[in-house]
Amino acid sequence: MPEQALGSVPRHVAIVMDGNGRWAKKRHMPRFVGHKQGVDTVLKTVRACADRGIEYLTVFAFSSENWKRPHEEVSGLMELMLVAASKYLGRLAEDGVRIRIIGDRSHLSDKLRGAWNEAESRTRHNNRITLSVAFNYGGRWDIVQACRQAIRDGVPEHELDEARLGRYMALNYAPDPDLFIRTGGEVRISNFLLWQTAYAELFFTPCLWPEFDATELDAALTAYARRDRRFGMVKDAQSDGAQH
Ligand code: IPE
Ligand code: IPE
Ligand code: MG
Repeated sequence: MPEQALGSVPRHVAIVMDGNGRWAKKRHMPRFVGHKQGVDTVLKTVRACADRGIEYLTVFAFSSENWKRPHEEVSGLMELMLVAASKYLGRLAEDGVRIRIIGDRSHLSDKLRGAWNEAESRTRHNNRITLSVAFNYGGRWDIVQACRQAIRDGVPEHELDEARLGRYMALNYAPDPDLFIRTGGEVRISNFLLWQTAYAELFFTPCLWPEFDATELDAALTAYARRDRRFGMVKDAQSDGAQH
């Protein structure tokens, strides 16, 4: 697994894109309009992240729990994913974006699975930035599916440690997120990357996702650059050691 970023630009940014519904409501429009606008924000954000040297962007598009929403909203989101895949794939591919989809694909339509397979295979050699879209994803689901795969592979109990299990997690091709952003004002994880965010820096903003832009991204990056990441260590251990 690649090393985590210690410098001031995060290698991996993960975003809970929340607030689409409220954005639409404020404008007296159906929630779906907010979701549609949210897709455009993803496109702009991928570019902005790539321009700033961020290597991995992972966005939460549909959670395991979002099935509990009204049927029309769920089917609208499925349809939107399909449309977005065909509408934007060319542009993302040209921009050097490698696309990965993480989440449980088992109960999704063949059409959607087909579109994603195409997006992943068409962009697999791109290396400007990796965009991972978490769809029908849950952090708990991820841990359980990793355990199941390890058992299926016959990994002996005494060999199963964090590194080994980590290789079965959905984001096994990426370093752990350095910066976790949530828009929309809620201060919670909502079952996003539970395993992978063990040491991520958290940033919460009231900005609704459709309004998220380069200025908001830079505010999060500035806050991140000021954080003191210790990973459980004592910051001035070296100078302490020198004194004694
Ligand atoms: C996030 O926006 C997008 C999805 C969960 C699909 P919301 O739809 O949760 O928007 P709010 O939180 O109701 O404003
Ligand atoms: C989290 O947002 C999921 C996504 C952004 C896809 P929610 O709107 O579903 O989260 P809760 O219900 O407020 O926790
Ligand atoms: Mg929400």
